[in-house]
Amino acid sequence: MPDLSGPKLLGKVAIVTGCASGIGAATVKRLRADGAEVLGTDIDVAAGEALCHEHGARFAQQDVSDRSRWPDIVAEAVAVFGRLDILVNNAGMVSGASIGDVDDDTWDRVIAVNLTGTMAGCRAAIAAMKDNPGGASGSIINISSTTAMAPLPSDVGYSASKGGVRVLSKSVATWCAQQGYAIRCNTVIPGATETGILDKAEQVTPGLKAAVASTSPMNRLADPAETAAAIAFLASDECPFMTGAELLVDGGALSIHPGF
Ligand SMILES: NC(=O)c1ccc[n+]([C@@H]2O[C@H](COP(=O)([O-])OP(=O)(O)OC[C@H]3O[C@@H](n4cnc5c(N)ncnc54)[C@H](O)[C@@H]3O)[C@@H](O)[C@H]2O)c1
Repeated sequence: MPDLSGPKLLGKVAIVTGCASGIGAATVKRLRADGAEVLGTDIDVAAGEALCHEHGARFAQQDVSDRSRWPDIVAEAVAVFGRLDILVNNAGMVSGASIGDVDDDTWDRVIAVNLTGTMAGCRAAIAAMKDNPGGASGSIINISSTTAMAPLPSDVGYSASKGGVRVLSKSVATWCAQQGYAIRCNTVIPGATETGILDKAEQVTPGLKAAVASTSPMNRLADPAETAAAIAFLASDECPFMTGAELLVDGGALSIHPGF
């Protein structure tokens, strides 16, 4: 894809969860290229540290489902960089269990990471963003999935958690607006993207990668950089009236009548 990066995010400070791989890694790279300071977090310390080092970002170990850790992560970004402007709630996992075989621990874990982690991130970020020098401001981008609109029978927890993220984002967006905060919250809805999570889903459902690629009329998977471009747009000041919105980055997969 053409390089549309530029210093659109100069002076801004971002937190990106799940930075070690896939869409999170591409987002760290893109936000740094656009001029933002970035604190990347992940449970995978070795890969997260390496990725952040490569792009001049700071790294912190974090399991996003640990609600007690979130205020520390936000405090670190503010202590080091002076403010918080952008939160990308990207960390996520698949569970690979249908309603026929999901057990309580599997359900609880995928909801804790994908949905509760996103809520805890929003809550902690807003507490800091409302006190930003110059007034309450910021942009939160939550990563959902096309499975929130057309769910996977083979993964009930993943699909349900990503559906929850869509509605969570709208509640956060409208509450912030009602408080008079210039804090926006939007959702990016990726379709099938060439990352590790799809490799894991392929192990549960062999043939899934080729099948989902063929659902896009473009007949291919997304490059993570293409998703990061949408995230960078929502993070920027180019869309101040966009809040509670959803950006589909799915190569048209959900825009075509089944069978055509
Ligand atoms: N790849 C796709 O096709 C696709 C499609 C739709 C949505 N998404 C979403 O995009 C986001 C990024 O996924 P990806 O495709 O880049 O996958 P990925 O597996 O390449 O990256 C996910 C990252 O999140 C980290 N992570 C997992 N659990 C964590 C936790 N509890 N705390 C902190 N970090 C954790 C992993 O270590 C990994 O670095 C996810 O929310 C995923 O659901 C992906």
